[in-house]
Amino acid sequence: MSKEALLIFDTTLRDGEQSPGAAMTREEKLRIARQLERMRVDIIEAGFAAASPGDFESIRAIAETIKDATVCSLSRANENDIRRAGEAIKPAARGRVHTFIATSPIHMQMKLRMEPEQVIEQAVKAVNWARQYTDDVEFSPEDAGRSDIDFLCRVLEAVINAGVKTVNIADTVGYNIPVIWGELFKTLRERVPNADKVVWSTHCHNDLGLAVANSLAAVLNGARQVECTINGLGERAGNASLEEIVMAVKTRKDLFPVETRIDTTQIVPASRLVSQITGYVVQPNKAVVGANAFAHESGIHQDGVLKHRETYEIMRAEDVGWNANKLTLGKLSGRNAFRTKLAELGIKLDSEEVLNAAFAKFKELADKKREIFDDDLHALVSEEMITPEAEHYKLVSSKFHSETGEVPSAELTLSLGGAENHTKATGSGPVDATFRAIEKVVGSGSSLLLYSVNAITTGTDAQGEVTVRLSKDGRIVNGQGSDTDIIVASAKAYVNALNKLYAGPERVNPQL
Ligand code: KIV
Ligand code: ZN
Repeated sequence: MSKEALLIFDTTLRDGEQSPGAAMTREEKLRIARQLERMRVDIIEAGFAAASPGDFESIRAIAETIKDATVCSLSRANENDIRRAGEAIKPAARGRVHTFIATSPIHMQMKLRMEPEQVIEQAVKAVNWARQYTDDVEFSPEDAGRSDIDFLCRVLEAVINAGVKTVNIADTVGYNIPVIWGELFKTLRERVPNADKVVWSTHCHNDLGLAVANSLAAVLNGARQVECTINGLGERAGNASLEEIVMAVKTRKDLFPVETRIDTTQIVPASRLVSQITGYVVQPNKAVVGANAFAHESGIHQDGVLKHRETYEIMRAEDVGWNANKLTLGKLSGRNAFRTKLAELGIKLDSEEVLNAAFAKFKELADKKREIFDDDLHALVSEEMITPEAEHYKLVSSKFHSETGEVPSAELTLSLGGAENHTKATGSGPVDATFRAIEKVVGSGSSLLLYSVNAITTGTDAQGEVTVRLSKDGRIVNGQGSDTDIIVASAKAYVNALNKLYAGPERVNPQL
């Protein structure tokens, strides 16, 4: 049976970035976009261009770089947003504008303060504005999952008549369950005139843990585009996870009349990269990309897998890229090997100067740690790519003391806008002492929401990767730091978070 194409629309860089503290820099977004292209996603939603000049520039840079995927910008249904989105995607080989407006009674009354007829009118205007920039326009009725079906049909009919190519039905608050969501697609495709002229897309949130199940129900009822994110990142409980959608469709090809063009061996590298950049750690029991996804604890299972793998495994670890975190380089590797490896990983350093600095750091790391893996390089380069402007606070040196029966202490030298300050503090442990010492000189007044440590690779000589989430005046930022010494990694992560707070207000959230 020949299969229809299921388009994979990745919104890690837009909806994923709306997760608290997950804001990414232009360079980080470019690295993720290159990995998404390598994985062969069909559409990359690169951001929300009107959010800030920085967001606009990131989308533009991605549009200039990516050749094998459509590059898309989100925009609210107003002329200014659409102009920014249209301009940002201009350099793309294939560019899309994705515009949306809410259609549920609660959103129209309480958020938009618009009458239903005005919403239809605005939706059509938005599509017409967007079509001045590209033929590839997508429209989403936001909160479609709680909208009146008759009204939804009218809105969709109007935007299809206005020339959209894709209609994306959004379960914005993750309210639906699979049987209802599947039924909704069936009904809409039957009732909306010219339904066969557009691609039907599903965009599900995971508030009830059903985003993937709902998306798959939509696919079984005619959806041919799924909007999803790496590791299921996204607002609140997140979006449908790309890896789960892709592997469900591939593993149960007996059920799905569709296939994706995803290179599944790029899934685990993509998952690790997104986790490392955003500081969102993947839970060990997460399907497909969690550390335990292919681990067999019970003796009976291990025995079964050794006799015949398929007794307990429905997918092969290597098919999703579990062996892709290769031993890359070692102590004796030269500058050229280092440069070539970075290029293979999709990492482009801005100048020879940055390359030299990164290479020096690599040599330092190789002295402490015999084997350097791809993930070590990603972590190392993330630190090297922090621009001097984004580094108002800098850790210059550190000394920690922790001994049985003694109060742990930390002594640090920090640079604040170029001026060095020495600071000391004690605490309940060396990490607490370190954060107190930093706060003594910085006085940020922020609250620590999360502190987590993970090993980047295996072995006791692995680098520790620390995430620190801080909040201040309603803003949330994640800081990351890595080092073979986890107290140093903690100090770096805290300083990184402070720099993000210092960098000023974040972008506008398109959905507020
Ligand atoms: O969840 C949502 O409704 C969205 C839209 C902007 C598509 O992210
Ligand atoms: Zn969303």
